[in-house]
Amino acid sequence: MADRKPLISGNWKMHHNHFEAIQTVQKLSYELTKEDIEEVDVSVHPPFTDLRSVQTVLDADKIPILLGAQHCHFEDKGAFTGEVAPNMLAKLNVDLVIAGHSERRQVFGETDEEVNAKVKAILAAEMTPILCCGETLEEREAGTAGERVTAQVTAGLKGVKAEQVAAMVIAYEPIWAIGTGKTATPEDAQEMCATVRGVVADLYTKATAESVRIQYGGSVKPGNAPDLMAQPDIDGALVGGASLDAVDFARIVQYRNAV
Ligand code: 13P
Repeated sequence: MADRKPLISGNWKMHHNHFEAIQTVQKLSYELTKEDIEEVDVSVHPPFTDLRSVQTVLDADKIPILLGAQHCHFEDKGAFTGEVAPNMLAKLNVDLVIAGHSERRQVFGETDEEVNAKVKAILAAEMTPILCCGETLEEREAGTAGERVTAQVTAGLKGVKAEQVAAMVIAYEPIWAIGTGKTATPEDAQEMCATVRGVVADLYTKATAESVRIQYGGSVKPGNAPDLMAQPDIDGALVGGASLDAVDFARIVQYRNAV
């Protein structure tokens, strides 16, 4: 890996109310050491209703964990019942916002154009987007996974400046590996993350591609994290299920300690 600091993110999806969120984050802070945080950036992405509570705990106890959100709208304000604007998240000291998670795309019908608008809105609010991409099982079996991911990344980054891309995060999450217990092999995950980096190099420059951080997501667990993280183009993990438990998540962050 180049000089990219790994980023390990816990996407809690629709789990943990704000009481559970506070407990989880406090427990996580006991599990993680100073060295862990020096070596790895760690973020948690709780549901919207938990953000203020988690922010308060992180601030009050000076816990060096980054606060993340799972989603936002791309407009600043307006008649969008149920939606949350990027600047509302920025006011809560949210650092990172996931854009275009496959569940948002598949269950809520988010299009590439909307994901692109979100990426730009997140950047405009001075937060860092985690742009998600990933193929379905059918696409993988048909041999079109590379094409699919290339199209998603190209569309997601449309109109985004090179220096912004250099500082952002892209998460490769094959849909067939999410919540299924099936992980891409480290070699397959590496190949796809290298494809993503290649797309960034083609769209921008090699230097931009060398700087962007690429996460793998899909059934990452303490047991498989070391082999995934050892791959040269994998700079982190976007963890779902295993991030709900502070001890499991901490073990993933501590992948370097695996023997
Ligand atoms: P799992 O780790 O539960 O497979 O979820 C991955 C994911 O979707 C993270 O965003």
